[in-house]
Amino acid sequence: MSTYRPTQRPRDQRIGQATRDEHADVLVEPADLVMPLFVRDGQGIDKPVSSMPGVSQMSTDVAVNTIREQVSRGLRRFILFGIVDSAKKDATGSAALDVSNPVHTTLRQVRDAGIDCEMMADLCVCEYTDHGHCGVLHDDPEVTVDNDATLELLAQQAVLLADNGADIVAPSGMMDGQVGAIRQALGSRDTKILSYAIKYASSLYGPFREAGEGAPKFGDRRSYQMDYRRSDEWATELALDLEEGADMVMVKPAAAYLDIIRQVRDAAPPPPEGIPVAAYHVSGEYSMIHAAAERGWCDLQSAALEITTAIRRAGADSIVTYFAPRLVDWID
Ligand code: PBG
Ligand code: ZN
Repeated sequence: MSTYRPTQRPRDQRIGQATRDEHADVLVEPADLVMPLFVRDGQGIDKPVSSMPGVSQMSTDVAVNTIREQVSRGLRRFILFGIVDSAKKDATGSAALDVSNPVHTTLRQVRDAGIDCEMMADLCVCEYTDHGHCGVLHDDPEVTVDNDATLELLAQQAVLLADNGADIVAPSGMMDGQVGAIRQALGSRDTKILSYAIKYASSLYGPFREAGEGAPKFGDRRSYQMDYRRSDEWATELALDLEEGADMVMVKPAAAYLDIIRQVRDAAPPPPEGIPVAAYHVSGEYSMIHAAAERGWCDLQSAALEITTAIRRAGADSIVTYFAPRLVDWID
């Protein structure tokens, strides 16, 4: 029998649920969560997305009721993605500038209903272009998207979103200068900009493309989204977006990019006065957990809590996640 005796016993802090709870210093709370919503034209539509259990495309009436209900359960923040019929899509995504599109309509209805929440809107044209890219096409297929021609569209869309009631606009297209162009266009409006500052070209966006009906018709997004094989490009993107006037920055995806979240949190000025860092736990990250749980390979609730807690622990102040409504139940 060993006569060795430890001098310290960290296990003492792990024995018994109450002791573990007392020592836990990272918590996911409803106020930290942002719920994504896919809004589309129509009435009474609540159409499940098959690759994302629990997520559906909703018409604006259903979306407004959902937001009202989730606010009463403790969620406060929502981000909208718009879906329009393919007949309304064109080369420049002009449906983004139609005030009757489902995003603008939902924003107005939430505001008119006086629901106490923070409304964010994804700001990009890929939901509205017939080719599915995040900007107007460039003649050179390697360049894919014409950066500066796209800035003008994003600026117009930002103003419209703000005027229809978005508290926060969230440019997601990874165009150079998008934050600066939007800030300039917003002028004296107090609309905030949540920049998807650090967004990688990822295979984990797969299920979103079914949900949002915005997959590129040819090629991919690697000429504008970041290359995950680079370890320090995030610093350039962060610095530029802060310089251009971002109020908040986002890292995307989240669970496979915890190192990036931590470095961004440490590099950006700290809240409350500084810059909140958000992380987007994306569709593929969500669906993988569901798929494994369906096969009995992991427990859905435990896995979702563990991974979202890890995202918080890495330094994210808020998490955009399709688990948001279920996490509210699981947290307490
Ligand atoms: C489009 C956009 C995408 C996501 C959010 N905005 C798809 C993409 O860039 O290809 C992905 C979100 C998710 O996977 O949950 N700009
Ligand atoms: Zn896009």
